[in-house]
Amino acid sequence: MLQISEHKEQNQQNGRIVVNSAYTKYNKLIKFSKNITDALGGVRLNKFILAVAFFLFMVINTGCSPRVVDKEQVSPEQKIVIKFSHVVAENSPKGLAAKYFSRLVNEKSGGKIEVQVFANSTLYADGEEMQALQEGAVQLIAPATSKLGSMFPYWQLLDLPYAFSDIESVHLAIEGPIGEKLTDSLEKEGYVALAFWDNGFKQLTNDVHPIGRPGDLKGLKFRVMINSSVLEEQFKLLGAQAIPLPFNSVYRSLEKNEVCGQENTISNIYSKKFYQVQKYMTVTNHGYLGYVVLAQKDYWDGLPEDVRKILEESMVEVTDWERTMAAKINEANYNELVNNKDIEITTLSNEERRLWEESLSPVYSFFEKKISAELVNNLAIQKSAMTDFAPGGDD
Ligand code: LMR
Repeated sequence: MLQISEHKEQNQQNGRIVVNSAYTKYNKLIKFSKNITDALGGVRLNKFILAVAFFLFMVINTGCSPRVVDKEQVSPEQKIVIKFSHVVAENSPKGLAAKYFSRLVNEKSGGKIEVQVFANSTLYADGEEMQALQEGAVQLIAPATSKLGSMFPYWQLLDLPYAFSDIESVHLAIEGPIGEKLTDSLEKEGYVALAFWDNGFKQLTNDVHPIGRPGDLKGLKFRVMINSSVLEEQFKLLGAQAIPLPFNSVYRSLEKNEVCGQENTISNIYSKKFYQVQKYMTVTNHGYLGYVVLAQKDYWDGLPEDVRKILEESMVEVTDWERTMAAKINEANYNELVNNKDIEITTLSNEERRLWEESLSPVYSFFEKKISAELVNNLAIQKSAMTDFAPGGDD
């Protein structure tokens, strides 16, 4: 009886309408036992038999054991569902971070906030994600910063070849005044940058011949990420053709020889099995690939404060974890590729790396005004400061 009244109370507290409650069932049973008592000519069923009968009745009637009261249970109406769409594999840095975020938010909110993650462009592909966010069809996306280039020109800064000599320099830029300008440009258009996640540095793969020098690209066709004129210009400068394609069609285009090469991080090359359709990879580290986790500002500001707090705290925790994991995954995937007979890997000497950097440097003057002379200059100042301080940076 106690259990039943607790159940009722709980339901009332949750503001739920319970049609087939245990209470109703119990009343039915009392009626039923009364009928039997009458039929047996007044012989009373004792309490034990009644309790066993009630138990069996519940099992038969619900098809399972009697419902246990779960004080943490969240009704569908109370639940906040957040759809998080992205384009990469689940076992990539972004894929794992999105999953971890979902788990953490679920734990911290006691199941009240559910982050549903859609990987591999299953919900929206490149070129669709941004619109889906604008329309509220999804609440979170994490596009590669390169893909923001056409809408938010400042973000093209991060695509400049050899802009960063290591991942620490990227973080320094993104967390300092440079990053502030970049995120402000998003806010002005009604977006919030919730976090900046790493992937790593890009390498070149192709199916024609090993590439060691910049001149080796001449006449080849490379896939580049969508919305980035910097990336297109970078390939043109080396005498190659740049074809912007969404991520979910890269494998097929390589397989069908619509393009013969592409640039990407090791983790993307590995998790999407590009090595099955590419014979050569050159470790150029010529550009950075990272993500900005985006929400619509109106949506974000409209969330209850306690919900936003849980999301923000989880995002900080996941971002920390993601950055460490991204480095580890890229390293582990690199070792896998070294042992993979399908792909031949070329690494560059310091001298060759300088040659690449020099050959690609005209991109800077070409884009200086298009991005922002001030930002490009600030980046150059940061780069030379980091080079001066780097051990062996002047070799
Ligand atoms: C690509 O399109 O190559 C990458 O941006 C995919 C990603 O999100 O890492």
